[in-house]
Amino acid sequence: MSTLSLQPANPHRLSFPDWMFSVQDRLEATLAHCMPPSEAIPGRLHQAMRYATLNGGKRVRPLLVFAAGELTDAATEQLAIAACAVELIHSYSLVHDDLPCMDDDVLRRGRPTCHVEYDQATALLVGDSLQSLAFELLAREDFGDPRRQLEMLHLLARASGSCGMAGGQSIDLEAVGKRLNQPELELMHALKTGALIRAAVLLGGLCGKALTVAERVSLDRFAKRAGLLFQVVDDILDCTASTATLGKTAGKDAAAEKPTYVTLLGLDRARKFSADLREQAIETLVIFDVRARRLVELTDFITQRKF
Ligand code: IPE
Ligand code: IPE
Ligand code: MG
Ligand code: MG
Ligand code: MG
Repeated sequence: MSTLSLQPANPHRLSFPDWMFSVQDRLEATLAHCMPPSEAIPGRLHQAMRYATLNGGKRVRPLLVFAAGELTDAATEQLAIAACAVELIHSYSLVHDDLPCMDDDVLRRGRPTCHVEYDQATALLVGDSLQSLAFELLAREDFGDPRRQLEMLHLLARASGSCGMAGGQSIDLEAVGKRLNQPELELMHALKTGALIRAAVLLGGLCGKALTVAERVSLDRFAKRAGLLFQVVDDILDCTASTATLGKTAGKDAAAEKPTYVTLLGLDRARKFSADLREQAIETLVIFDVRARRLVELTDFITQRKF
């Protein structure tokens, strides 16, 4: 066998970092292609949409779409569109989260936030437009099975709205200066961050071959644990990492008197809680055996990340 044939472009053979970079590159290219060009009227809005989206996030939600897609042998083209749709909703949520009426942040992904670089009205419209574009992409792609495509649209809509991300943001704002108990905090996190993470995993699982009912149940359990884990780690990083490393202002939660897992449990127990959630998440993947390799690796990445 020649040396070349030992190194096929087979995503299963890539190391985790190489797989992650390849998905991030693919996502960047698809996002750049899907968004209106900066020159298209209204140019300022389109520039701001691109500014808020093509700016080096970790792309964890797209990575989850692709990792879940490995369970179903899904086509890369479909995964890329589903991944773009979730990332557009996520980017919109960050633009609005940073507004003065919400977290009032000036730094995001290492650059001035959208409303600082442009203005508040533009940032509002960027959020609106990114949200619409997400559903436009998901509705336009040929996913082969119209019923499943409707399920995907429904899933993402529900995860984004008042029973998902937007609802969680509302609870977050109402909770300022208050002490939440653990079930209350868990609900807030499950909605504001968990809902979109869950949607990313389930969207990946809806592309490609159909999963069995038992597999869908296990994947949903995984998705919920991973979503909560993601925000618990975000809470920990907010008070342990530097602004330079995070690319967003560190220590904002304490400064804004936000209830977090660190204020509820203290740092050590919050860390222990994140390790337990990691274990629980990975346990739910046993049913998928080696097909879950990327999901397991991503769970470790989410737990150990430094920013
Ligand atoms: C930050 O999300 C906001 C939360 C939901 C906690 P990420 O940590 O995924 O942000 P980016 O996309 O990598 O910038
Ligand atoms: C943001 O949570 C969740 C959403 C954007 C929906 P945070 O307010 O903790 O996110 P960061 O820390 O600003 O990224
Ligand atoms: Mg917030
Ligand atoms: Mg914030
Ligand atoms: Mg945070």
